[in-house]
Amino acid sequence: MQHIDKQSLHNAYRLFETGDVDTFAIGTTKGLQQIHHYLFQGLYDFAGEIRINNIAKGNFRFANSLYLNEILVKIEQMPEETFEEIIAKYVEMNIAHPFMEGNGRAMRIWLDMILKTRLKQVVNWQLVDKVLYLQAMERSPVNDLEIRTLLLANLTEQINNREIIFKGIEQSYYYEGYGNKN
Ligand SMILES: Nc1ncnc2c1ncn2[C@@H]1O[C@H](COP(=O)(O)OP(=O)(O)O)[C@@H](O)[C@H]1O
Ligand SMILES: [Mg+2]
Repeated sequence: MQHIDKQSLHNAYRLFETGDVDTFAIGTTKGLQQIHHYLFQGLYDFAGEIRINNIAKGNFRFANSLYLNEILVKIEQMPEETFEEIIAKYVEMNIAHPFMEGNGRAMRIWLDMILKTRLKQVVNWQLVDKVLYLQAMERSPVNDLEIRTLLLANLTEQINNREIIFKGIEQSYYYEGYGNKN
């Protein structure tokens, strides 16, 4: 693992270990920016900053930076009462992809904090297969059924289980090509 990614992984551990994550705004753009800043401060000069350039992955271009700020205001107003609503909100935030890099890692923590607050559950990421997850996310702008089904099958009520949280963080970094699992 490169220095920058190892450093960021340690920041992610620290975010939970210190309880700092519980001080951030839930389900908002600001909360997501706080998480991103925490993970990448001193590593990326854009830590916590909304992008001003356009970006794409595979065949998909994320929201145009020209209206990204307006979109983010709408997304944070989306309801988050039910599991279906929370996933719909997560999928829209992924389509927005507000940062130049680090969206996946920041957003999975953001999602878990919504699930934890609203449903008293979190995703047990270590049980969510990397290939299935990335395929479901690629599909999600067209149809969110796959990601919804995949995450619903892997929810846990052990929201304060340290092992589940830390293994989940490692899995999240593994999805993005950092570290080798186990
Ligand atoms: N083709 C795609 N269409 C939509 N979302 C995608 C696509 N490919 C990847 N993603 C999502 O984007 C995330 C990666 O975004 P990125 O900004 O690179 O985050 P990180 O730096 O943490 O890897 C993936 O985890 C996945 O959720
Ligand atoms: Mg990336």
